This record gives sequence, C-alpha cells and structure tokens, in this order.
Amino acid sequence: MTKKINDSYSFSGAYSVPGDKSVAQRAVIISSIAEGVSTVLGFPEALDCLSALECMRNLGADIIKNGSELVINGSGLYGLKQYDGRLNAGNSATTMRLLSGVLSAQRFDSVITGDESLLKRSANGIIKPLSQMGADVCSETGDGFAPLIIKGRALKAIAYDMPVASAQVKSAVLLAGLYAEGSTCVRESFASRNHTEIMLGSFGAQIESKRGRVTLYRGGCALRAKNVAIYGDFSSAAYLIASAVIHNNSSVRINGVFVNKTRTGFLNVLRRMGAKIRLMRMFLSDGEPVADIVAESSGLFGTEVSAREIPSMIDEIPILAVVSCFAKGRTVIKGASELRKKECDRLAAMACELKKAGADIEETDDGLIIEGGKKLKSAVFDTHKDHRVEMSLSVLGTRIPGGCEIENAGYADVSFPGFYDIIDRA
Ligand code: S3P
Repeated sequence: MTKKINDSYSFSGAYSVPGDKSVAQRAVIISSIAEGVSTVLGFPEALDCLSALECMRNLGADIIKNGSELVINGSGLYGLKQYDGRLNAGNSATTMRLLSGVLSAQRFDSVITGDESLLKRSANGIIKPLSQMGADVCSETGDGFAPLIIKGRALKAIAYDMPVASAQVKSAVLLAGLYAEGSTCVRESFASRNHTEIMLGSFGAQIESKRGRVTLYRGGCALRAKNVAIYGDFSSAAYLIASAVIHNNSSVRINGVFVNKTRTGFLNVLRRMGAKIRLMRMFLSDGEPVADIVAESSGLFGTEVSAREIPSMIDEIPILAVVSCFAKGRTVIKGASELRKKECDRLAAMACELKKAGADIEETDDGLIIEGGKKLKSAVFDTHKDHRVEMSLSVLGTRIPGGCEIENAGYADVSFPGFYDIIDRA
C-alpha cells in the first residue's frame, strides 16, 4: 500500500500513545509463569504484543483479554504445556528471544518461528549463551536463523559477558536463569533497557543490578502474581516529540509515558541539540518512572552521539536522523552497527531514503553523518517493511513542502496502532 503524507504548518496537541511494547511483552510472559492471578492494565494492540499473547496462549497460558485489560492465571514455572504447532512470534524479536529463554528449560520441546523479516535476523546472540547454560536450541536451517528448535532441558547458571549490549539477549539469559540452579549473572558494557530486571524483582525474584552486572540469585524460586500497569511507550512518543521540535509554532503534550532512563537517551540528545522538552507529573509505577512529556518548536544544532548512548536510544536512531536534517550543522552518530540487525538495516535504509528528499547524509560502518539545514523536497519513500523507518519518514513528510508518498506502508501497527490517526489529523 502507498500512503500519502501531507505537509503540515505546525504540530500541536495533547496525546496519549499505546502502552509500552517492551513492558507489555514481558508482562504477558512473566505473568504466565508466575503463580496466581495477575492483571495487566494498558496492554496495547501493537502486533508484536499480540504475537506474544498468542504464543503464551498456545503454550496453554490462561489469559482473558478484555480490551486493554488482561487477566492471567499463571501456572508457575513449569505450568506451560507443549504446543504441537509452531509458535509464531510474527515480527517480534523480543517475543522470540525472551520466550526462547523460557522454552529452553521446559519439560517439553518447541519450535518457534516468525515472519519473513524475523527469519532474516540471526538468533546466534541468544543461541550462544543459552547453549552455555546447557540448553538445546538450534536453528532449523543450521545457519543461526529461525525457526528455532528448542528441546527442553535442565539448565545450569552461568556468568555471561555480553559482546554487545542487548536487552533481548540479557532477558533471554535471565528468564532461563529462573530455571537454573545457582546464580545467573549477565554483564554488559553499556546499559540496555532494564525492564526484565525491574519486573522480575517486582514478581518476587531475588535480582540485583550493580555497575553493569545483573545477578539473579537462586533459580527455581516461584514468581508471585501481581498487577502490572503499562504506561505509554517512549519509543512511540518519540515521533510526536520529534514532530513538535522540528515544526514551527508547535507544542505537544504526551500524557503518561514510561520514561525509564535506559530508554530515554533520545531526550538527552535532543536537549543537547537545543530542544525544549520538559517532563512533568513524574511518579513511579512498580519501579518504572512515568511522566507527561511536553515538547515545543526548537532551534536545533547538530551533535555527536557516542556508542555509550546508543542502547538507551536504539530504536530512536531513525527518527533522530530525521530530526538532524532540521538542525544547523553536523550530527554524527557512532557505535550504532546493531541497527543493521533490526527489522531492516536501519542505517542503510535511512541513508537511502533521506537522500531521496535531498538530505546530506552519509552512511558509515557504524553510524550516520548528517549535515543539517539543507532544503528538502517532496519524494516517494520506501519503508523497507520496517515500522520505525515508516513512521520516521512519515514525520519527515509532514515537514517537507508538498509532503511525501510512502510505498510499502502499513507497518506502523507493529508498535504504534493509531499512529496515522494522529499524523493525518495534523
Ligand atoms: C527490545 C530491545 C531492543 C530494541 C527492541 C526491543 C526489548 O533490542 O531494539 O525493539 O524489548 O528488549 P536490543 O536487544 O538490541 O537491546
């Protein structure tokens, strides 16, 4: 499908965004292996979250969904049941990787697959540490790609040094660690999102994070059911924040967003570029900070983004590339080679598409260099079948005279159902 995006003089309003996709997927998996009844409030209709829900139901989890409320009757660490078909994680690497950690330790075997894009993303990042724990996980085609065949085994605890910061790999190891004898420890050089650690702690696991090291003390302990409230996804809010700062005469307020520091690197970078952004009404919900975010039209300057900052804004690099086109001077993004392994090669995709609009952008091995302030022109973009590329290009289209067309559109629902209702209204 081709989507027409109209340019817009300004971008203002008060919005809420769907619940956090990362937290929602963890909530459905962890509640299903806890003991007792958990309620999850604010579960989003994002396709990735529905994939997680479907996988857990296929594994016998007792989940009642009533709109955005889930009631999950957890059956304990070993209460899941063998599924005779192939579990389908759809587009969601988070579902595939986190669930692989749990499935590795079950008393049954499983096969987990995904959509065309997920089957092209290497699973070696999880196969390596899970195998060290004694898991029997292998790629059906033998090349490290899903479908994954997982034969349930008794696992042993390990201390794992992650070669690159990855919340999905860290989470897979910690979830497997729930079943292993002894303490499981994961070390990372730069902090990736820590929702798994926070949620496991709130479900009663003995877990500690200190100086780049997460330790899950004692596997085999039961998790206790609890209620989980899911607030807005910062990664979705990022598109609305970006829209406000690059348009003139604009101001947005996004109510009730999770603003965990391991997720909001984009805010720090934007502020450094001169963006006017405030967090208001902050409070904690089960260890996760929540706030309303207010962002306004801003005069922006280029900046340098270092490798250390990348994990906390891993999903916001495509929209940062768009924002950088409207900043005076040069923006240099380094240490972001992980972006080449996402739903598409996001460095190559953004460089290719932004050039079509006349942007001065250069792709490096591990990042992008953008010379901002160039006059941009209307173009026909391609999404590369990637929701974040699609939404970033849509925001760009609202700021180019004559707007833009987006071919291969229709992926925004993977993470942000309702995105186009907001953009079309603007
Ligand atoms: C996610 C972690 C990130 C991110 C992805 C969601 C998660 O990947 O890109 O969209 O929910 O754990 P990494 O494993 O590279 O940190």
